[in-house]
This record gives sequence, structure tokens and C-alpha cells, in this order.
Amino acid sequence: MKREKFGSRLGFILISAGCAIGLGNVWRFPYITGEYGGAAFVLIYLFFLLVLGLPIMVMEFSVGRASQKSAALSFDVLEPKGTKWHWYKYGAMAGNYLLMMFYTTIGGWMLLYFFKMIGGQFEGLDAEGVSNAFGELMGQPGLMAVCMIVVVAACFAICNLGLQKGVEKITKVMMGLLFVLMIVLAVRSITLPGAGEGLKFYLLPDFGKIKDAGLTEVVFAAMGQSFFTLSLGIGAIAIFGSYIDRSRSLTGEAVCVTILDTCVALISGLIIFPACFAFGVNPDSGPNLIFITLPNIFNSMSGGRIWGALFFLCMLFAAASTIIAVFENIISFAMDLTGCSRTKAVICNLIAIIVLSLPCLLGFNVLSGVQLLGEGSTILDFEDFLVSNNLLPLGSLIYLLFCTSRYGWGWKNFVSEANSGTGIKFPKWARIYVSYILPLIVLFIFVQGYWSIFH
Ligand code: PHE
Repeated sequence: MKREKFGSRLGFILISAGCAIGLGNVWRFPYITGEYGGAAFVLIYLFFLLVLGLPIMVMEFSVGRASQKSAALSFDVLEPKGTKWHWYKYGAMAGNYLLMMFYTTIGGWMLLYFFKMIGGQFEGLDAEGVSNAFGELMGQPGLMAVCMIVVVAACFAICNLGLQKGVEKITKVMMGLLFVLMIVLAVRSITLPGAGEGLKFYLLPDFGKIKDAGLTEVVFAAMGQSFFTLSLGIGAIAIFGSYIDRSRSLTGEAVCVTILDTCVALISGLIIFPACFAFGVNPDSGPNLIFITLPNIFNSMSGGRIWGALFFLCMLFAAASTIIAVFENIISFAMDLTGCSRTKAVICNLIAIIVLSLPCLLGFNVLSGVQLLGEGSTILDFEDFLVSNNLLPLGSLIYLLFCTSRYGWGWKNFVSEANSGTGIKFPKWARIYVSYILPLIVLFIFVQGYWSIFH
């Protein structure tokens, strides 16, 4: 079977950006920034995106394009005979499934909140009422399951239409709408009376706050967030390299994707922080930030019902574009490994993902006794921990070593793949840095971060 290809370069860039832009940008980034004190954290995060995320994205794209396969077979194709790099395919595949096991649940919440906003269901509720509404939802596994299943089925249906006719066409539209809506929302938020304090919190660094939170912890969080937001470490973005030709060099493409991703993260901060400060609420409430803090804010805003609905529509687009991209990976694993048709891969995985997503949503009610990461933690926390704190950094390290070590695919092959085509080239001087310094940085921060979590 001939491998499908994207219809255009724009398609490739927007789908890759769609994979990268997701809950990581619109949900995780603002709440982590809120928790770690604002601007100073943002600076550290931007630094890691540039020195850590960007080179690894070029590597993933190169592996995908050179092998013309998903992560299920890319190492088998490229590794030197007799080596074991292909063992990581199990890590990569597990990573994609594990990510979806909790991501789809949050996607379902976004869908529900969108409809609740349109329906005006929060109107007239006070802060406690809004908070109770979220609490009540956590106690309704049936409702959560319905929302999750709708999201999963819709995203698989889009994938089933094919790479060009489904994934490319629909993601392009969603990304376009996402950008426009987010800019409108940011303008609304910045022009609220009292928004200035929020801008200060978000844009003026105060390194004292980093000290309070503990430098190691902040650096570990910033590194984790830069891998998460760029979808690195489990081959999720690599696959899109396998759908393009060699007319463009990959460093330039990775720069575009990283810039788009970063813009969306920064703009969601511009939406959330000014609004929080304008209405006198603290942005450090963690993962609840957008489900509890924000509906309150929309409640006190004139026209809040519409703004709120638009906001959750953005969240839904961001989540769905990532879910579609990861489903494309999952479908491609099945097609690469068994040679089955797209539709067959879709049907089997639709059932598998629905079943696999259940523990996460049951973790808030029926299975709330399962607290694997310590008291009060949920199954969602545990799945997120496995992916974000383990598979993504370690997988990124594997891609890094594979592309630079002579026992792997090797520097020469990597650079020649990354540099074929027109556009920005991977700089030669970076060789020492990516081969010797970068792996040590990743390893060091990983070990430190682990240590600080468990001690
Ligand atoms: N980048 C996605 C987001 O920001 C999450 C993701 C991580 C997707 C890893 C694929 C792989 O939401």
C-alpha cells in the first residue's frame, strides 16, 4: 500500500502545530505558570523550548521522513543491523495510548463546558455554585463517559476520512478558527478594567517567586512542559515527517511549528491572567483554573455567556486537534504493523480507546480510592505522570541519542535528512552541543526532578 501524503506544506505545518497545540498550551501552561509565579517561569520555559525542544523536534521529523514509517517501525528501518533501538517502539506506542487515556476525558469536559456556557447554566451561580458544579460533574461517570465517547468517536470519524480529506482538511480549519478566536478573546481580556495587574504578573519576571517554589522543581516543570507542549518523545510528531517529501529542510519547519505553538500558549496566558486579576481571583488554583476560576469570571463579565462559550470552543478545538493527531499515530501503528486498512484500524482502536479511557474518568468517583501517587491523587494524575514525567523526557533522550550516536542512526544520516530541501539548515556547530551536552542536561534534570518528587 502506498503511503498517504499531505496535500500541501501548509497542511503539514498546521497539522504538526495542531498536534503540538493542545491542552498543554491552553490548560496546562496557564495553570503551571500561575502556580510557579508568572513571568520568571515563562522565561525559563521559553529558554527550554529553544535549547531543548526545538532540536529534538527536528530529530523526530527527520526520523519520520527518513523511515517513511510511524514510531511502530521507524527504528526498525533506520537502526544499524543487530541493535535494539526498535525496542523503544513499545515505549512510543504505550505513550500515545496512555496520553489518550486521560486526554479524551478532559476533551469531554471541554465539550460539556462549551454546551453549559451556551446554555447559560452557570448564570446566577456564585463562586461556590460554580465550584460545586465541577464537583458534581466528577461524581457523574455516566455523563463524563458520554462526553468522552462523543469526542473520541468524532475524532476517529475524521481520521477515517483519510489523511488529506479528513485530518488535513479539518485540522486546518480548526487551527485557523482557533487563532482568530484566541486573538479576539485576548483583546477582550486585556481591555478589561484592572487587567494591568495581570499583565504585570504574567510579563514582569520576579525571580524571588522561583526561589519560593524551589529552583529544581521549577526547572523540572519547565522542562517537562516544553516536551509536553511540543509533543516530543513518543514519536507523535515524528509521524508527520513521514507524510512529506524532501523539498524543505526540517529545521525551518520545526521553527514554524514551535513558533505557532508558543504563540498559542502565550496568548492563552494573555486571556487568562488579565481576566483573573481584573476580577480579583488568584491564578494559582492549579488544574481547576479553567473549570472553576474562569466560569466565575465569565459570570461577572458582561456578555459572559458568549465569551465563555467562545473560550471553551477554543479549548475544544485545541484538544481535538491533538486528539486527531495522536489518533492518526495510533491508526498508523496498526496499519504499519499489520498492513490492515484504515477503516479496520479505526474501528478496533475506537473500541480500545473508549475502554482504556474509562479508568481515568472512574478515578474521580467509583475508583477514587486508587491513589497511586499519594493521598488525594487521581488516576488522571498517575497517567499524566507516566507520560509527562517519564516517557516524554526518556523518549526524547532516545531520539536524541539515536540521531547523534554512531551506534544509532548517527549524526551524518540525521543531518543529511534534516538538511535536504530548501530552508534553514541544522547548524554544524550544534553537533557537540546536541551530542554531548544536551543528553546530560535532560538526564540531569530528569534525575533531579524525580528525586524532588519522591523526597
Ligand atoms: N502537545 C500536546 C499538548 O500540548 C500534548 C501531547 C504530548 C501530544 C505528547 C502528543 C504527544 O496538549
